[in-house]
Parts: sequence; C-alpha cells; structure tokens
Amino acid sequence: MLKSLKQYAKDHSIPIICDDGLLFLKDVIDDYHIKNVLEIGTAIGYSAIFMAEQGCKVTTFERNEKMIVQAKENFKSYQKHISLICGDALIYDQKLDQYDMIFIDAAKAQYQKFFDKFSPFLKKGGVIVCDNLNFHHLDPNKVNRNTRQLIRKINEFKVFLKEHDLYDTQFYDIGDGMSITKRVND
Ligand SMILES: C[S@@+](CC[C@H](N)C(=O)[O-])C[C@H]1O[C@@H](n2cnc3c(N)ncnc32)[C@H](O)[C@@H]1O
Repeated sequence: MLKSLKQYAKDHSIPIICDDGLLFLKDVIDDYHIKNVLEIGTAIGYSAIFMAEQGCKVTTFERNEKMIVQAKENFKSYQKHISLICGDALIYDQKLDQYDMIFIDAAKAQYQKFFDKFSPFLKKGGVIVCDNLNFHHLDPNKVNRNTRQLIRKINEFKVFLKEHDLYDTQFYDIGDGMSITKRVND
C-alpha cells in the first residue's frame, strides 16, 4: 500500500514526507510510545497510513477536495485507525482529544497558527513534530517575493520555537528539516 501511494505521489507531484522523514517519525513513535496522533496535512494519506501501521490512532486534517477524495479511498481499510477531518484545520471548531503527538505537515506560511491552535491539545509528555522547516535550504536573495515571504515566516517560526520558555525544541537536518518540540514547564 505505502509503496504504491509513494509512487502515485511521485507520478502526480504530490508532496509527501520523504523516506528519512518516515524513519524519523518511526523513531519518535517508538521512543515516546506514541499511541494517538493529530496530523495537520493529510494529502493522500501516506504518512497517516504509515503511522497507523506503527500502531497509532491518527486524526488527520485535509482541506483540499481532490486530496480528500483520494485519502478517503486510501483509508478504507484503516477506518478503525484513521479519522479524516475534511476542511481547513484553522477554522475547525469541533471537539478534539488530547494527543501524544501532533505532526504539522501543511501550509508552511501557517505553522505558527497551527502551533498556537493545536498545542493545547498536546498531552503532558507529548511531542509536536514539524516537517519542512528548511525550505530546501533556498537562498532568500535568489527566489521570488512569495517564496521569500514563506522563508521569512518559517524562520520566524523557528525563532519562536527556539525562544519559547514553555517548550524545548530540537531541530534535525533530516528530509527538508524536522523538529521535535516538548513542553518543559507544566
Ligand atoms: C505536504 S502535504 C502533506 C503530506 C502528508 N503529511 C504525507 O507526508 O503523506 C500538505 C497537505 O496539507 C494540506 N493543508 C495545507 N494547509 C492546510 C490547512 N490549513 N488545513 C488542512 N489541510 C491543509 C494541503 O492541502 C496538502 O495536501
């Protein structure tokens, strides 16, 4: 299943987590005994299915209609393990649980907002994992205005994580830049 989803994503230029990123997620799931996950950014469900196969219960947000149709199809055999919430995560106002891990892998410009909105749903001792924090190591002086703004936003978010008194964040040069954030002062 995962192999065919990965090929499909490649053929259709759908951004999904890279192999190193998946191994990283697997280590986090093992090391922190993660049982339930809130994911922001489903796409076709590749990372959600991977996490479900590691034994996690996954709740995942997707706003893009085409992605939703495919994710629903791909989740058919995972109904007990994966719940898809269709719509923009930032305007969702229904109930959520408390999660061992929150995995942020959606619109880069909104990482700060995702963090602010969903960090209250992190269980004590849980972790927030972010993907795509390096933005391909692009030089801000050699890209267009939109990309420059995105790089600036991501960098501001990284500074926010580094300087936050309540959270401790480690950054990893894995995939396109990943991080693990833990709450330190409860
Ligand atoms: C990088 S892809 C997710 C890849 C997926 N996590 C994987 O590795 O298989 C990002 C997805 O986030 C979705 N997305 C972006 N912003 C969102 C938002 N505010 N609410 C819900 N989904 C969002 C996009 O439509 C896109 O499909």
